[in-house]
Amino acid sequence: MENFEFCVPTHILFGKGQIEKLPDVINGFGKKVLLTYGGGSIKKTGLYDKIKELLADCEIFELSGIAPNPKVDSVREGVALCREHNIDVILAVGGGSVIDCSKGIASARYYEGDAWDMIATRAEITKALPIVTVLTIAATGSEADFGAVITNPDTNEKLALNGFPLFPKVSILDPEYTFSVPAKQTAAGSIDILSHLMEQYFVPASTYMNDLLVEAVMKTVVKYAPIAYKEPNNYEARGQLMWASTLADNATLCNGNQLVAFSCHGIEHELSAYYDITHGVGLAIVTPRWMEYVLSDKTAPKFARFGREIFNVQGDNDMESAKLTIKVLYDFFRSLGVPMSFGELGITSEHFEEMAHHAVEAEGLEYALLPLTSKDVKAIYEMCL
Ligand code: NZQ
Ligand code: ZN
Repeated sequence: MENFEFCVPTHILFGKGQIEKLPDVINGFGKKVLLTYGGGSIKKTGLYDKIKELLADCEIFELSGIAPNPKVDSVREGVALCREHNIDVILAVGGGSVIDCSKGIASARYYEGDAWDMIATRAEITKALPIVTVLTIAATGSEADFGAVITNPDTNEKLALNGFPLFPKVSILDPEYTFSVPAKQTAAGSIDILSHLMEQYFVPASTYMNDLLVEAVMKTVVKYAPIAYKEPNNYEARGQLMWASTLADNATLCNGNQLVAFSCHGIEHELSAYYDITHGVGLAIVTPRWMEYVLSDKTAPKFARFGREIFNVQGDNDMESAKLTIKVLYDFFRSLGVPMSFGELGITSEHFEEMAHHAVEAEGLEYALLPLTSKDVKAIYEMCL
């Protein structure tokens, strides 16, 4: 068991009606609020009106239109608003994209220089504005982690920023706010949760307890994703997925493991950087191919255990079970209605060389479960065609 430090300082308010606590939460930080949100789903669901009503005595400034795979221009726009209006707190209402963009704003607000320089040079983040979130989609775990991912379309880069000050101070998680998430996004979000769990399960050494904890959350996702997909208003399914999202990406389940770089995430981030595709869709396509590519006597036992525990896969030996598992996982993703090849998304091999090179460089893939070179990553992209 490895040494670790663990501190998740985000205060979670989970469940129906927790939004009523928002005024008290916000008042703890100040009156000048930057409300950040995406393309308008929060207006359709009524959440926007509810928040405006609850925060009637606050001075609210807005940054809207934050796109999926949030772009650095939105970060720049938010920084300008924070400086101009001396904002006290950022209220991020949405999914990973809105929350990540808000983390970029919160930290770049104190950075002397352009927001992209801060991200690209991996400047140490020592200070950030407080962030409060109201989560509207179960997926990334950004509601209770210290990371964010921002895209620069001018350079085709999608890069992470991390830092302790980026943990949201408070996150409101009401599963009812995810009832309106379309089936496609429900699938993509669930795949992202499962991928976070897989990335921390397929490591060189993990603890007995962590394996069991991760398996419990994986089983939960595999049970409830199809239910939420078919029955969008199923509270139990939405609630289980929402809490799984939070647990899956804030280190709760991997303390003490020997951690390695997230292979499929590293490979996927290039896809959304170049083609602006949905993160979870990219993961669905890449993951079975990555498993196939790295399958060996060394990886087969854990892949086989994953198949046995999560999908009840049976096989005469680990290698056979691992191969069956890859197929079952592929079919599971397919059953959630996501595209399962680049061809279905119009992605060709045009940029594979540079994408592969960049994935290795930016995502530390030489420190992955199976260390990957750009030649390896290119081969995996080719398997996805
Ligand atoms: O923009 P609106 O209109 O709100 O619509 C969004 C968006 O189109 C819609 N949506 C969200 N909640 C909804 C809803 N539609 C109807 N009803 C609701 N209640 O869903 C679409 C996708 O939203 P987005 O925020 O992009 O989804 P997600 O939470 O999956 O975030 C994806 C981003 O997070 C990054 C991804 O790379 C991607 O950029 N990630 C962030 C991580 C982190 N911070 O720790 C880790 C992840 O691995 C991931 O990389
Ligand atoms: Zn992810």
